[in-house]
Amino acid sequence: MKIPARLQPLVDDGLIDAVLGQLMSGKEAQVYVVRCGEERRCAKVFKEARQRSFKQAVQYREGRRGRNSRRERAMAKKTRYGQQEQEQAWLNAEVEALHRLAAAGVRVPTPLGFVDGVLLMEMVSDADGRAAPRLDDVTLSAEQAIAHHDAVIREVVRMLCAGLVHGDLSEFNVLLGHAGPVIIDLPQAVDAAGNNSAGMLLRRDVDNMRAYFGRFAPALHDTDYGREIWALYEAGELHPDSALTGRFVGDSTAVDVDELITVIEDAREQQAWRLARCGEAQDEE
Ligand SMILES: Nc1ncnc2c1ncn2[C@@H]1O[C@H](COP(=O)(O)OP(=O)(O)O)[C@@H](O)[C@H]1O
Ligand SMILES: [Mg+2]
Repeated sequence: MKIPARLQPLVDDGLIDAVLGQLMSGKEAQVYVVRCGEERRCAKVFKEARQRSFKQAVQYREGRRGRNSRRERAMAKKTRYGQQEQEQAWLNAEVEALHRLAAAGVRVPTPLGFVDGVLLMEMVSDADGRAAPRLDDVTLSAEQAIAHHDAVIREVVRMLCAGLVHGDLSEFNVLLGHAGPVIIDLPQAVDAAGNNSAGMLLRRDVDNMRAYFGRFAPALHDTDYGREIWALYEAGELHPDSALTGRFVGDSTAVDVDELITVIEDAREQQAWRLARCGEAQDEE
């Protein structure tokens, strides 16, 4: 195909040998299949800021730190420099998230370069070597749905253990690769510890997955992994291999009965002591 203008610099630099085609365009970006030597890769081109939609909302940016205070001040002032910096920070966010997650063992496309606002990455492929379908493109048996749901939940947990919440997880942003589900599309990923909306976004992500896989395996509708995962995270007890039940009961911390009885007895003793004091005071009058 004719080389899109945005990819020309990468062709000139020899990073891309040919552009083979374009994948279905999403909300924020255009993704091309390109050939680099013998390999097929994906090149993601971000749309201009004014063409993009909701994801730059303040909600997602909170807790993201700029590299230096000059940049942060400029971003806050909305100067032209500030806007460019904002743009760059947004583009960098996906690249940084991909590096961080790949290092933490989360199944995401391996990032292979970021040049002139174009992200080069591994192409997630199906069993025939073609670009993998999105969850939205496939029909699953109940068994497959449960197995893939399980796999996605494990990835979400691993992501959270690496400090990130996807924030826009849906059947459009999970590909079904030849070795299982792969999470994509991360420019809006939020800092789990530094963002007040992180818990809400995590539950929404997980609930989206339940709604999608629940179409094929209705038993999943009775699960509540989102709250369970967030409660474990907040308690500092979440690990990549934490055992999960899919159930959430108000307060999930086990009750220590002996300790509870001691607390009740203490309270009773104090009350008795107070009543006795009260009686003494009245006697004195
Ligand atoms: N690494 C990849 N491998 C295969 N297909 C991809 C890859 N990255 C993106 N795609 C395809 O491109 C589409 C758009 O990419 P995405 O990162 O979700 O951007 P958008 O913000 O436009 O939704 C995806 O739905 C998917 O079909
Ligand atoms: Mg997408």
